Amino acid sequence: MRHPAAASLRETVDMGRVLVTRSLPPGSLDPLLSAGHDIVVRGSGDELREAVRDVDAVVCLLTDRIDRAVIAAGGDRLRVIANVAVGYDNVDVAAATEAGVIVCNTPGVLDETTADLAFLLILAASRLAHEAESDLRSGRWSGWGINEYLGQDVHGRVLGVVGWGRIGRAVARRARGFDMTVLHHARTPTGEPGFVASLDDLLEQVDIVTLHVPLTASTHHLIDAPRLALLRNDGVLVNTSRGPVVDEAALADALHTGRLFAAGLDVYEDEPTIHPRLLDAPRTVLLPHVGSATVQTRTAMGRLAAQSVVDVLSGVMPATRVLP
Ligand code: GLV
Repeated sequence: MRHPAAASLRETVDMGRVLVTRSLPPGSLDPLLSAGHDIVVRGSGDELREAVRDVDAVVCLLTDRIDRAVIAAGGDRLRVIANVAVGYDNVDVAAATEAGVIVCNTPGVLDETTADLAFLLILAASRLAHEAESDLRSGRWSGWGINEYLGQDVHGRVLGVVGWGRIGRAVARRARGFDMTVLHHARTPTGEPGFVASLDDLLEQVDIVTLHVPLTASTHHLIDAPRLALLRNDGVLVNTSRGPVVDEAALADALHTGRLFAAGLDVYEDEPTIHPRLLDAPRTVLLPHVGSATVQTRTAMGRLAAQSVVDVLSGVMPATRVLP
């Protein structure tokens, strides 16, 4: 095993071999092609551990588990792993760094698109869009009713943003356009108006909470039963970060018992399996992890990952590098 400091640039590779674990949107790999690298797309049945042998770089997805064994299988030749996602909890960054392999993600290019989706969930969950639409489609709508589908206002309410990175701040900008008051929580003081040092205090003060933290050991089940109990009965929870940030069983309980008004989720603890009690929870909008899913953004993510590989193979340290 190389020393941790070995995860630095080595000699340049002119015509590298780059494994792409799934085909990406058209145009994504142009930076690699222009630089003259050879692309190998992993077959659907290929074991990752086999596929990473004899490649200089891997462009992978958040659904690929790049663990210590996969990194070891890459051997001395493997230089860089570029994850086409901003989150990189699927990559063992410590193991990669120890093995002298640089890990990159795709920050910056998906913030606005993901913030759009978080806001979609804020609106859809608060206004019961899913229940109302399902009734209409299945013939259960019997006509306008003064007491039907009474949601919660979004405008004028208090939004709590947990995690004050680029995506959290992009959601906050949208919220201000809806005349919402925005409070935010982050591990370290942001020095910005609306900062609340204690997550518990924030949860007690908001109507709607939206999660924008990375998944780490300290954010696993950050929103658990005691924290859900701090939210108002007419509160709404939105999660577009990573599923395990929320204790799904506790969330399902809160929704079934009416302790929490509504939820909008795009991410799950054990994707693509969905907790059965979430599937039948009332006032819940469930999307299949589509936060960054637009043609423009997914292409930009692919290109950024490809460019990061080009950079590393040409001896340039990319700004997208992540550290353990
Ligand atoms: C999507 O979930 C991402 O991390 O980019």
